[in-house]
Amino acid sequence: MSSDLTPMMRQYLDVKEQHKDAILFFRLGDFYEMFFDDATEAARILHITLTSRGAGKGGKVPMCGLPHHAADNYIARLIRHGRKVAICDQVEEPAPGKKIVKRQVTRIITPGTFIADDLLDESVNNYILSFNADGGNFGLAYADISTGEFRVTELDNREDLFSELYRISPAECLIPESFSKGKGSQQFMDVNLGAITVNDDWLFDYDLSLKEIKNHFLVESLEGFGCQDLPLAVGAAGALLKYLKNTQKSRLNNINVISTYRASQFMTMDRNSYRHLELTRNQEDFSATGTLLEVLDKTRTPMGKRKLKRWISCPLLDTEEIKARLDAVQYFYDSGECRKNVRDLLKEIYDIERLSNKVSLGKANARDMVALSSSLGNIAKLRDSITGEVPSRIRGTVLGMDDFKDVIGWMESCLAPEPPNVLKEGGLIRDGYDPRLDELRYLVTNGKDWVTGLQKREIERTGISSLKIGFNRVFGYYIEVTKAKLDAVPTDYIRKQTLVNAERFITPELKEQESRIIGAEERIKNMEYEIFCRLRDKVGAEIERLKRTADCVAELDVLSDLAEVAVVNRYSRPMVNEGSGLRVIEGRHPVLEKILKDKEFVPNDIRMDAGHSRIFIITGSNMAGKSTYIRQIALITIMAQMGGFVPAKEAEIGVVDRIFTRVGASDRLYRGMSTFMVEMLETANILNNATGRSLIILDEIGRGTSTFDGVSIAWAVVEFIHHRLSGAKAMFATHYHELTELAGVMKGIKNYHLTVQEWGDEIVFLYKVAEGTCDESFGIHVAKLAGMPPGVISRARAILNNLQKDSFTGNIRWRFSEEQKREGKQFDLFEDFSREHPIIGRIREMDVNRLTPLEALGKMAEFKKELSEDGKR
Ligand SMILES: Nc1ncnc2c1ncn2[C@@H]1O[C@H](COP(=O)(O)OP(=O)(O)O)[C@@H](O)[C@H]1O
Ligand SMILES: [Mg+2]
Repeated sequence: MSSDLTPMMRQYLDVKEQHKDAILFFRLGDFYEMFFDDATEAARILHITLTSRGAGKGGKVPMCGLPHHAADNYIARLIRHGRKVAICDQVEEPAPGKKIVKRQVTRIITPGTFIADDLLDESVNNYILSFNADGGNFGLAYADISTGEFRVTELDNREDLFSELYRISPAECLIPESFSKGKGSQQFMDVNLGAITVNDDWLFDYDLSLKEIKNHFLVESLEGFGCQDLPLAVGAAGALLKYLKNTQKSRLNNINVISTYRASQFMTMDRNSYRHLELTRNQEDFSATGTLLEVLDKTRTPMGKRKLKRWISCPLLDTEEIKARLDAVQYFYDSGECRKNVRDLLKEIYDIERLSNKVSLGKANARDMVALSSSLGNIAKLRDSITGEVPSRIRGTVLGMDDFKDVIGWMESCLAPEPPNVLKEGGLIRDGYDPRLDELRYLVTNGKDWVTGLQKREIERTGISSLKIGFNRVFGYYIEVTKAKLDAVPTDYIRKQTLVNAERFITPELKEQESRIIGAEERIKNMEYEIFCRLRDKVGAEIERLKRTADCVAELDVLSDLAEVAVVNRYSRPMVNEGSGLRVIEGRHPVLEKILKDKEFVPNDIRMDAGHSRIFIITGSNMAGKSTYIRQIALITIMAQMGGFVPAKEAEIGVVDRIFTRVGASDRLYRGMSTFMVEMLETANILNNATGRSLIILDEIGRGTSTFDGVSIAWAVVEFIHHRLSGAKAMFATHYHELTELAGVMKGIKNYHLTVQEWGDEIVFLYKVAEGTCDESFGIHVAKLAGMPPGVISRARAILNNLQKDSFTGNIRWRFSEEQKREGKQFDLFEDFSREHPIIGRIREMDVNRLTPLEALGKMAEFKKELSEDGKR
């Protein structure tokens, strides 16, 4: 069959064979063409027309194509569909007589390595992550090739792995084949939102990886990077490097250091905390709208934006480090003038982090270089704008910045001030930079002047006043004479082309000048391109300095940003210490206070400690402000530990090692599991991983099941935190009033409620937190607000009164006393569910929708009777 194919098709199939998992863009002239299944798929995703092309005797094959200059947009769309694209270019000029030009894959673009900068969101890193597992131990390596960041770590716990995955949110994740087939992989896939690329296991092999890393970074050992004792991380890093080199077809000079980190350096937040606290992404569309990031982000540079995002998702644990950041923020907070100057200058600085990485990867064009040069030109000014007594963190940052006088000099003397986008059409290099180039340019200008002069001379010689000299790409220079004057044309003119009203001629001397001009123009273009590439390589070799300075600029951006936001939003500096207290005076929810339009945000205090006020049970009706209150405490803690000011009048915060959040929010089904199951799994995770320094936020847990179960579980969970997680602080928002009884039984528990005022039939939410419980049940109020018939409301009140008085609480007490006898071993939420009261089983089987109110009451009476008999037995 293959002998029946055209040579081009054969070449195509050879290349395609090597790149089965990617859509192959095959360069034909000015187009990229796709064939076979690639064509069908791409046509569908890209909405382009599917045609066909003769492939030889075998007949026609499906084909679609797109203009090469528009490729980036189409690639972006395919990448967003989780596909890879292999770019196969012509790697030699087509020459006459040659049957087929040589073609080669020059780049493979994958979701994690896509760096077309106009299509890349500048505020987020585009990470690619490589994952390696051995039993319950995990190695991670991740990189952003547009910034040269490369980090590794190891984790020994699944939950930490998942929260790390969620925090990094890689666009693409490399996993070993054996892992992809193992049973732990499904959960991994569920957490990981990016594309998955399965790689052969041997790529993650330690010895091979070690060799790869040593070769790449030109080091003898990994000690300098601090990952010498992390074999799984090394395996992951080696696999990642190999994959990047293979797809980029580049030496990746911009990746020149490995940063090893440990999850224990940062506050750990479980996945749910990231989600529910809406730190950097909201829960609706995963954008930054309505998040803490949005409130805090008034940064002036893209690299500052990215750094701010990292700070939010990695709050610190070390009080000294936190204080150093706070001091730095304070400096900009106190000096409005300096803050303004710095922020004005930052506005003039482009994304030097990504620009210099592009330069180093050989992907920058002349405009990028000019932007880099002009940005670097502001660094010295930025340094000088920081005056007076500066805190150590800022001093270090200022010292870390290079003014790049040399590099700017190279670029300014060489590059034309406004070069074009394309690199091979000339116009890149300044006059006076290279004498050879100047000479060629002189030749061209001179030649063109000669041609202009020729027109005048020929008009005089022939007497044809309308004679014109023109130029087009096909014929080059010509002399044009209108039909009416053809008689006057001299004999040495050579006819070249006939138009409707005119004839075009050439002369030997005109052609001679022409080839001189065109030859010189060609040479100019080549020479300019060469000079440009040399300059780019030279600047690219300075990547280490450039990256360091970019990082310092980002740092100043974030610090001055946090100060600016603190001033504008009236934040204050928190005291952060190693104690276990948490005291916030007039704290606010940073996001909600900005969103509320027609009402003022009501601030609230909190005073928690390791003694009598460790666990708060917070009650209040629906919409009273419970969730807001407990979330704002978590957010204030995070903001303080990232080194920023907080939305409160005063705050004193003992460092928290982990924040856990469990929100029994929506009742939607969740990957096939019932909400309740998910809720229980997540709660179990909290109880098994929290420490005595953790902050636990539980919002309405136990809601996804019957009241009996719900209250029981909630009660047991609180009890567990109280007994086993000594020191941990917890806030528990609930509408189960029964839980308020816990405060009477255990000394670390306090009751709080959100106050409400009744105005006749109305209830007004005051959003003020007060000690104690609220005795009214506002669920019924809400029912009233919703327009339920008065009869139902009053009947509900009566039933409620009954329930509250006797059997309900009595029954619960019975269960809790049983529970309290159990001691020791890890907490397992499921261990006791087999022992439920038979009545619960019957309630479960009841179809409430089919019961008349009367039948329901009858049932209720029946249950009550049985239960009271039960109690007597
Ligand atoms: N401190 C506050 N100040 C002003 N409005 C608030 C405050 N807390 C909550 N609210 C308003 O009440 C609404 C419901 O709050 P939420 O915390 O979700 O109540 P709950 O969890 O008790 O049902 C919020 O969306 C907000 O509009
Ligand atoms: Mg709520």
